[in-house]
Amino acid sequence: MIQVSGLAFLFLLPVLIAAQLSGSVGPLTSYSAKAAVKTCDVTDYGAVADLSTDLGTALASAFAACQSGGLVVIPQGDYALSTWVTLSGGSAWALQLDGTIYRTGTDAGNMIFIEHTSDFELFSSTSSGAVQGYGYEYHVNGSLSGPRILRLYDVSDFSVHDIALVDAPSFHFSMDTCSNGEVYNMAIRGGNSGGLDGIDVWSTNMWIHDVMVTNKDECVTVKSPAKNILVESTHCNWSGGCAIGSLGSDTDIADVIYRNIYTIESNQMMMIKSNGGSGSVSNVVFENFIGHSNAYSLDVDQYWSSISTVAGDGVSLSNMTFSNWSGTCASGTQRGPIKFACADGAPCTDMTVTDFNMWTDSGSSIYYTCRSAFGDGACLKDGSASSYAVVTETITSAPSSYSAPTLPDDLTTNFGTTASIPIPTIPTSFYPGVTPISALLGNDASSKRSIPDVVSATASASATYSLITFSTSSTLSSLSTSTPIGESFGRPRQEQGGRESSGADNHERRLSKKRHAGLDSVLL
Ligand SMILES: *[C@@H]1O[C@H](CO)[C@@H](O)[C@H](O)[C@H]1NC(C)=O
Ligand SMILES: *[C@@H]1O[C@H](CO)[C@@H](O)[C@H](O)[C@H]1NC(C)=O
Ligand SMILES: *[C@@H]1O[C@H](CO)[C@@H](O)[C@H](O)[C@H]1NC(C)=O
Ligand SMILES: *[C@@H]1O[C@H](CO)[C@@H](O)[C@H](O)[C@H]1NC(C)=O
Repeated sequence: MIQVSGLAFLFLLPVLIAAQLSGSVGPLTSYSAKAAVKTCDVTDYGAVADLSTDLGTALASAFAACQSGGLVVIPQGDYALSTWVTLSGGSAWALQLDGTIYRTGTDAGNMIFIEHTSDFELFSSTSSGAVQGYGYEYHVNGSLSGPRILRLYDVSDFSVHDIALVDAPSFHFSMDTCSNGEVYNMAIRGGNSGGLDGIDVWSTNMWIHDVMVTNKDECVTVKSPAKNILVESTHCNWSGGCAIGSLGSDTDIADVIYRNIYTIESNQMMMIKSNGGSGSVSNVVFENFIGHSNAYSLDVDQYWSSISTVAGDGVSLSNMTFSNWSGTCASGTQRGPIKFACADGAPCTDMTVTDFNMWTDSGSSIYYTCRSAFGDGACLKDGSASSYAVVTETITSAPSSYSAPTLPDDLTTNFGTTASIPIPTIPTSFYPGVTPISALLGNDASSKRSIPDVVSATASASATYSLITFSTSSTLSSLSTSTPIGESFGRPRQEQGGRESSGADNHERRLSKKRHAGLDSVLL
């Protein structure tokens, strides 16, 4: 087993990371040093790994005892979470999740909400800790009004790693107004629907790497405000795809790199999305992207019709480089692999497309479109003068080097929205040919779960409900923290390029109307 101490991080990071980050990331103290100060095992505070006793109150008590320096441990075993926890304050603490937490409560909000803390680490020492959200119990009813799994707000100098988040009723993992964070060696696996975001980040100085996301919404997405964000080695394994947005008024995003991003069967490889709005996104690099069978590939859409128009001339996008993209889109004649639909009121400037080698799964040509977009490469126009209407460039021969490797274990079908989703093991490869930066903490993560999703994988919904204790008391964490404009809770994404011919999509569409009603109640 490899232990990576906080000290090692401080020492190594300035060497490992790109100038992209503004300083070191991760906890300041190793979890073993924290354990030496104090260890608070939840089973000493009332938790029982019996899939029925509520973990929420025990976890809150263990946290209270260890929050000013210590290690809170959830040992291996299967726990029920019926009341949500807000772990607020403290510093120099860590949460070791070696067990599996199963959602049994039904409140909205966040199952686990960590805020106002620093020098923090959430991890599994065996790489097999997980949270099972059983979101399908909501999704089968067409509802996205259940809880998010994990939210960090105002947390600094921290890491989250070696855990799996599965089937969130709503979002999986959001980081809001955090700083100096590292997220790695994670698997997120959700239902095949919009509204089930993987990782959303609006924060400063964050390094997110070696993560896998399956869902049909945000893979790893940067929202505003954000600065110094590095996203690397990400496997969007049948997802919505990565994005920046949705962007609204006073957008403030700068210094972002996405590198080594592998995307299959998703809505897009990278989307920048807005509709009106103001402010800017600048100094962004998107390099080494591999795509297979995605609807859109490079998709800048400042007239995105899936969100309402926000007041303003448009968000100004400048100094962005898209380099070394390869692979194929699903249909290059239906949705070409380059789309710059920039705001006429705030044209894109200093865009660069270079070493772009995408081709198409079907058909024998592809097209690029540009509107009010200036820079170098593809259909971009020189200068920055004024707006212009859509121009289209058609490409009729495949780039010689479009073909790109696949990962060995790509999903061959999605998980739908109506059945329980199995908890995955954390992968050890997230981008072809690139070794993950840190080894998994657990060296045998595969065979440790006593009750994988067997309970519900085959059982009917009603059988699963026997686990639910419908608690009335609530330590519900609120949605009071800031929500970025345009954060779309569950807007179905089929409009913007789902795989329209499949039966699953039709099913999706039928569900989506019902979903909006549920969504509004989450947001407001
Ligand atoms: C889904 O609908 C069924 C039947 O109306 C209901 O019993 C169940 O509680 C609903 N599930 C959720 C999570 O609301
Ligand atoms: C453009 O962005 C790159 C990458 O972030 C950065 O290195 C460069 O300094 C930026 N150029 C300007 C003129 O700001
Ligand atoms: C381009 O991306 C491919 C696939 O990830 C990689 O093997 C290659 O080294 C990259 N080329 C450059 C110049 O970075
Ligand atoms: C992609 O997802 C599938 C299904 O969850 C999984 O078996 C596979 O390991 C994932 N791929 C990688 C490279 O992790």
